[in-house]
Amino acid sequence: MKNKPTSSQHFRRFVLGAVSAAAMMAGTLASAQEPVQPIKAHRVTEPAKVELGKKLFFDPRLSRSGFISCNSCHNLSMGGSDNIRTSIGDKWQKGPINSPTVLNSSLNLAQFWDGRAKNLREQAGGPIANPGEMAFTHDLAVDMLRSIPQYVAEFKSVFGSNKLTIEEVTAAIAAFEETLVTPHARFDRWLEGDTKAISAQELRGYQLFKNSGCVACHNGVNFGGASFQKMGLVEPYKTDNPAEGRAAVTGNDAERFSFKVPTLRNVELTYPYFHDGAADTLAQAVDTMGRIQLGKKFSKSENADIVAFLKTLTGEQPKLVLPILPPSSDATRRPQPFE
Ligand code: HEC
Ligand code: HEC
Repeated sequence: MKNKPTSSQHFRRFVLGAVSAAAMMAGTLASAQEPVQPIKAHRVTEPAKVELGKKLFFDPRLSRSGFISCNSCHNLSMGGSDNIRTSIGDKWQKGPINSPTVLNSSLNLAQFWDGRAKNLREQAGGPIANPGEMAFTHDLAVDMLRSIPQYVAEFKSVFGSNKLTIEEVTAAIAAFEETLVTPHARFDRWLEGDTKAISAQELRGYQLFKNSGCVACHNGVNFGGASFQKMGLVEPYKTDNPAEGRAAVTGNDAERFSFKVPTLRNVELTYPYFHDGAADTLAQAVDTMGRIQLGKKFSKSENADIVAFLKTLTGEQPKLVLPILPPSSDATRRPQPFE
């Protein structure tokens, strides 16, 4: 066993490999030499579909109680998350896992902490029918929409058919979610060549982030979202949360406790952190990551530098006009918040 490299040695090689591969891609732009890239603003090609998706995202009538909308747990006034450890669902049920942000989620390789939905369309049907979240059914959701003449007309003009199906509902929600990207973060401006966009401390933080190996997992345009990685690579992560991670999807025991690497964009807004929501502050999250993923104990000032850098990843938040929802008709099923 003596010659067998430990997982942390393996990992260091992997980090060095990733960093030098990035360096080899050096081009003319400063950012071409970096393992992370700026985000591009989203260009809307189907505005009517996006508008409809926005209404659905904010419509609590897609839940049994008539009280919970997508925005309840992915509050776009709070970084697309709910800022509580685990979400609150139908009848005040305690949710099993922390709500990830919907901001920039279109850039992730898959949806959910364990990646069980391959894209936003597949994802959007889940919460409506999840008994612990919106606790409705797809049929009841579609019936509700069909009972509201303005919705019927809007679906018809967007999709060109009278059917009004759950597939149309999820397609419209996904089209809206694709607009929720957050370009022009100060750090992106730095990547694009504006050397004054970040302070000396923030730059030190980025260098530490890069040189310590955080970028091996948090890389690319979303500073994450591109792979599944073990939580507790060097040292086990202790939690009461029963989530198994990727193994629950693939059945592969080696992927137990592997989770989708979360994006670090807007991370200043999306506390608390980790799938169990156990880290209340960025300082705690950075300390835990250093210890259990890299076997590294950051000093107080190193930790503060990395935290300062992470706060430069807050981008321009989506500018939304609050949608006014069409009223229920006499035929619309009434909400059942207490039964
Ligand atoms: C009761 C709270 C709640 C409601 C309501 C809710 N979500 Fe979520 N959402 C969550 C939680 C918790 C997760 C993580 C679940 C997991 O990974 O197992 C999640 C995950 C997601 C993700 C995946 C993000 C990523 O990076 O993996 C997207 C996208 C999303 N929700 C969109 C929606 C949409 C669209 C709706 C409305 C149709 C909605 N959610 C309703 C709590 C909620
Ligand atoms: C081996 C891959 C890996 C490395 C290296 C790594 N991370 Fe992570 N990071 C993850 C994974 C996976 C998660 C989600 C874990 C979970 O919640 O179970 C995560 C979560 C986070 C979160 C919480 C984000 C959220 O929204 O909940 C922060 C902040 C973070 N990492 C920062 C860092 C920093 C800073 C470093 C370097 C000191 C680092 N990470 C190194 C894989 C990694």
